[in-house]
Amino acid sequence: MDKITINLSNIEKEANDNSKLTKVKNFINAIINDSIEKKVINAKKVLLSKTGEGNDFLGWIDLPLDYDKEEFDRIKVAADKIRKDSQALVVIGIGGSYLGARAVDHFLRSPFNNDGVEIYYVGNNLSSDYMNDVIKALDGKDFSINVISKSGTTTEPAVAFRIFKKLLEEKYGTEGAKSRIYATTDKEKGALKTLADTQGYETFVVPSNIGGRFSVLSAVGLLPIAAMGIDIDMLMKGAQDMRSMCIDNEFSENDALLYAAIRYKYYTGGKTVEILASFEPYFHYVSEWWKQLYGESEGKQGKGLFPASVELTTDLHSLGQYIQEGKRCMIETILELEGVQNDIVMKEEADNSDELNYLAGKNVSFVNDCACKGTIKAHNDGDVPIIRIQVPQRNEYYLGQLFYFFEFACGISGYMLGVNPFNQPGVEAYKKNMFELLGKPGYERSEQ
Ligand code: PA5
Repeated sequence: MDKITINLSNIEKEANDNSKLTKVKNFINAIINDSIEKKVINAKKVLLSKTGEGNDFLGWIDLPLDYDKEEFDRIKVAADKIRKDSQALVVIGIGGSYLGARAVDHFLRSPFNNDGVEIYYVGNNLSSDYMNDVIKALDGKDFSINVISKSGTTTEPAVAFRIFKKLLEEKYGTEGAKSRIYATTDKEKGALKTLADTQGYETFVVPSNIGGRFSVLSAVGLLPIAAMGIDIDMLMKGAQDMRSMCIDNEFSENDALLYAAIRYKYYTGGKTVEILASFEPYFHYVSEWWKQLYGESEGKQGKGLFPASVELTTDLHSLGQYIQEGKRCMIETILELEGVQNDIVMKEEADNSDELNYLAGKNVSFVNDCACKGTIKAHNDGDVPIIRIQVPQRNEYYLGQLFYFFEFACGISGYMLGVNPFNQPGVEAYKKNMFELLGKPGYERSEQ
């Protein structure tokens, strides 16, 4: 079975000789010593036996098998309706409530012309100019809204929902608007749940035992993804297959465990930053999703690698200098796409003023591949440890694998660090200050 695969042959320049695989293996064995291996295996036990901190948020582990089949079918029906009656879908949510869907959208659809429904993401910022631009873009278009908030009280999506609900009501009337609003929220509680029940919106559930950043394979991600016309069965299948590999495989054959072990090794060795890099722009929002996953899961109690991302070769002309010669604080994880869908062959030209005839007959993907190999070698030479994650193709199946791979490794990593990977107490700090400034009832500032 084809699968996404971790490749550690360029982890450091000492191991950097693909012709001597035993040397690479010995090198990996030397850097992941017995104590790290024991720690990873123990973290896996804690995760799967549900005995660690945050164990009431582990619903994502079995989600690819154990999902609500009735709701899954309802998602497909709602998505079909949206595709029939709407040119655009406004997806309202922030953090884990929108990044998964956006990652799939950006990874699988063309950024320029999609036959399907246009997706507008709002409620992930508080910019009135941005919201006004979306309102203008919706002018004259039939649209629906999917408002997504587990708590149902997050300010950014709540503000956006009030604004876009009004727009919808002005266009279709109060009753007409109701049949175009889909609310994804807690099964029982929260302001959005109350509003949805009162108004009679169709609702979908954010399972109470799944945190936002682990929710892409629940209705949170699946409804907008299905509305894009993307095959959610294949996405789930990829996650299912990766789940088996993560749970069943022994350490040396378990890529998620190896990834967690390597990150831990370099983190405890003094590295402070992990950059997720790719030579395909389609990974942009996968990286955004990954940054939230690792940032919110690990960044607490003064711990954790800072998750950053770069798009290459684009950022080799902006951040490349720092990666090559700046503070030696980072490891780099490269997402490599193995097959391109539509290649372009460089042509010979009579006028060789651009001096590119040496590339005639070569594919652009070959040029990109050489850029990738050249970068790996340069960064290795610059003492940046490199983890390569190879993705066989740009499709739903492998993306499902990739989501689950990163989620599983993240749970393991958090437990290895000694933090609760499934809470996010630090997110509250800005909210409290903002609410005081806004004069939200219950947050009044006491006068000194
Ligand atoms: O991962 C998380 O839990 C967060 O990023 C949430 O998804 C985000 O804060 C949005 O929360 P809510 O869905 O409650 O509006």
